[in-house]
Amino acid sequence: MAIIKFVNEKKEIQVPDGSNLRREALRAGVALYPGINKIVNCHGLGSCGSCRVLVTKGMDHTSPMGFIEKTRLGMSMAYIGNEDKMRLACQTEVNGDIEVTTTPSMNWFGENFFS
Ligand code: FES
Repeated sequence: MAIIKFVNEKKEIQVPDGSNLRREALRAGVALYPGINKIVNCHGLGSCGSCRVLVTKGMDHTSPMGFIEKTRLGMSMAYIGNEDKMRLACQTEVNGDIEVTTTPSMNWFGENFFS
């Protein structure tokens, strides 16, 4: 069993190892999608990029990134500067305790954007 802690929502859920992060978040009533994306999203196919989250603790307890996820995040400005912690919830399997920040805000300037 693994524990997923949703930081913004101050909610913890216990899930079986191998659970899909998107499915478990939605089941727990966590607002995974920002704005209009609550309705307009790809429903877990990994193509819209709107289910992106930051895994702030326990990234090593998640499945490795696959081709679809790498490709989709590679097209996202939000990914720049968050390469070590951003995931698509729909493409992430949970295999141990993690902490997740949903609907991360865009960091337009990054740590080193102008350097
Ligand atoms: S739901 Fe569209 S990329 Fe995850």
